[in-house]
Amino acid sequence: MPTPPRPVFELKDVEKVFQVRKPGQRFGRKTVGLRALDGVRLSVEQGASLALVGESGSGKSTLLRVLLGLDAPTDGQARYRGRPIRAVRDEGADFARDVAMVYQDARGSLNPRMTVGALIAEPLRRFAVVPAPEIGARVATLLTRVGLPADAAGRYPAALSGGQVRRVAIARALASDPSVLVADEAVSGLDVSTQAQLLTLLRRLQQDMGLTLVFITHDLGVASFLCEQIAIMYLGRIVETGPTDAVLTSPAHPYTAALRDAAPKFFEPIAEPLPGEIPSPLDLPSGCRFSGRCPRVQPDCHARDPHLARSRTRSVTRSVACLHPLAPVDGAGPVAPANPGPAPEQTRPD
Ligand SMILES: Nc1ncnc2c1ncn2[C@@H]1O[C@H](COP(=O)(O)OP(=O)(O)OP(=O)(O)O)[C@@H](O)[C@H]1O
Ligand code: SF4
Ligand SMILES: [Mg+2]
Repeated sequence: MPTPPRPVFELKDVEKVFQVRKPGQRFGRKTVGLRALDGVRLSVEQGASLALVGESGSGKSTLLRVLLGLDAPTDGQARYRGRPIRAVRDEGADFARDVAMVYQDARGSLNPRMTVGALIAEPLRRFAVVPAPEIGARVATLLTRVGLPADAAGRYPAALSGGQVRRVAIARALASDPSVLVADEAVSGLDVSTQAQLLTLLRRLQQDMGLTLVFITHDLGVASFLCEQIAIMYLGRIVETGPTDAVLTSPAHPYTAALRDAAPKFFEPIAEPLPGEIPSPLDLPSGCRFSGRCPRVQPDCHARDPHLARSRTRSVTRSVACLHPLAPVDGAGPVAPANPGPAPEQTRPD
């Protein structure tokens, strides 16, 4: 029997701790560990589209940096097609060619002194995607693919609108013929019609090219349009994951429900926002880390720290980290010991 293909990305109990100055200290060498990722488990299959959603500070960009091999996990395993991401990345250009990134600050990621044509030709040359004489034609093909006119090749980024700049960034990312596209807030801050055009473009590219897509967004509407799978993050953990439609139609975690209800809808008053702000990762509540804001909180939530529990319901695999989930997800609620709190104090080496 043929062995099933390895997942593109597989994270097992990934932790990322940053050493930061103690709160309130501007000087001094004493640091504390800020746990930006805390036991993250995630599997992304070839051709999947996954949205990472969560409030500011929940760890989305840190997770992306681990997937890209830019940050090493402090603990746990981060694998790319079965091998440690950092090792694959250090081996050479293959990883950089296969895994392309679209940054939130698309304009800032483009050299303003280079024309659009030169910007797109750069990865074509770097990865020797086509012979030199064919570069001009390939640039034109990529411009067409992202909906820009061929004469855009002669323009500089400063002469382009925000939407056009994002299209150039996408064309540049696609130039190396990647199989994986990773994007951090790639359509945020644009007007709704430009956003809709870019989302349609990304969805078409993902389907036509069979791309694996990992897409960070604050916007559940964007997640639901673009991605078949969703992972909801809160304070360094994935608290709910599953097929986007199932999760958003019937959220099991109270945090997912609160995010969904807070999204503005036509002709409806905006729901009460969640009470309070996301706590500092340096000062986590005991037990469930959502307990300080959760409308369903119960006494045991302050003592027990729920971890993701997996279940298959009606042939759909979903997971939730909650002791008292809203939707009946079998097996939800097994607990781990109370959360470990901030990582231990350390002293900065000279
Ligand atoms: N290099 C770093 N050094 C210290 N702390 C960091 C570093 N990078 C991230 N953090 C902290 O880790 C936590 C997660 O940050 P991260 O940027 O991953 O969140 P995010 O979900 O991407 O937020 P946003 O939606 O605002 O972009 C935050 O508390 C942040 O302050
Ligand atoms: S475990 Fe308790 S506090 Fe945490 S999300 Fe579930 S109901 Fe809310
Ligand atoms: Mg971020």
